[in-house]
Amino acid sequence: MEEKKVLFSAIQPSGILTIGNYLGALKNFRRLQSDYRSIFSLADLHTLTVRQDPAVLKKNTYELAALYLACGINPEESVLFAQSHVSAHAELTWILNTVCYPGELSRMTQFKDKSAKHEDNINMGLMDYPVLMAADILLYQTELVPIGADQKQHLELARDLAERFNNRFGETFKIPEGYIGKSAARVMSLAEPERKMSKSDANLNAFISMNDDTDTIMRKFKRAVTDSGDKIIASADKPGITNLLTIYCAFTDKPLSEAEKEFDGKGYGEFKTAVGEAVAAVVDPIRCEKNRILADKEYIDGVLKDGAERAERLAYKTLAKVYKKVGLLPRRRG
Ligand code: TYM
Repeated sequence: MEEKKVLFSAIQPSGILTIGNYLGALKNFRRLQSDYRSIFSLADLHTLTVRQDPAVLKKNTYELAALYLACGINPEESVLFAQSHVSAHAELTWILNTVCYPGELSRMTQFKDKSAKHEDNINMGLMDYPVLMAADILLYQTELVPIGADQKQHLELARDLAERFNNRFGETFKIPEGYIGKSAARVMSLAEPERKMSKSDANLNAFISMNDDTDTIMRKFKRAVTDSGDKIIASADKPGITNLLTIYCAFTDKPLSEAEKEFDGKGYGEFKTAVGEAVAAVVDPIRCEKNRILADKEYIDGVLKDGAERAERLAYKTLAKVYKKVGLLPRRRG
């Protein structure tokens, strides 16, 4: 039997996830997990690039682990682990730093955005963030990386670093491909539909969190910014309606043309209610299941322990190969 290809992805436990993270990442993870040898990580080291309250980070990490499980990641089939539990991630980052140039990192869109947002804390980690992400991916000989559109530039860097390393030291890493869903790869803010929906938005009405209850979801969609005119169709001059239609289609698995037909002649109020109901029908059961799992920290600790052990075995195979290629002495034990 042919071995399954490796799929790797990760999410930062930097806050309560939004429906953007769900549609751009988690929903695809669940759908793809059985077709691949799937490895999912909690990118806790990445979150340290922005100031964190340690107690909140810990809480968010448990929340994210529970959410992965509530969204259907099966820990027996897939590997689920915390990035900081497998030190090979930090070690490979060091090696990859030696084949990466500062100019490649300083021109990253996310680095520029985050530097502007956190002017008082532009630290080396913030700049080096894409190299850690490259290490995450390359350690597992990954072939497929499901991500939202905002991570595409980082994935391209991972590919470039892998190719550069392979050219310099001989074939070592597989070159990963990105998997970016056709729709909902970039869910936009409900308040400013020209901007990405983000869990760190100061305006709580701009995003739907995976922790929002049905009433909150309905209220936020009622307030969502729409466009002038009254037609419910997707078009470049209607970013608000287009975003709501995208969300509706992604949550109901309906094609756009069918949704446009369904709302033909209907008012914005009725449309927004339908979008809210479609989202709540999916988010509400996930939230309840997440809270049920979250109550059992011991279970989560056990899943992450098992995941880290399995991830470590795979990661160290690649790391040993890398160390050998660059000429580090093999470590003698015993
Ligand atoms: P993060 O934690 O910001 O987001 C997790 C995933 O959600 C996607 N996403 C979105 N998709 C659609 N619409 C949106 N509005 C939206 N917002 C976020 C992101 O694209 C991502 O797929 N650096 C990564 C985490 C990471 C990683 C990795 C990913 C670390 N190592 C290795 C893949 C492979 C990040 O900060 O994602």
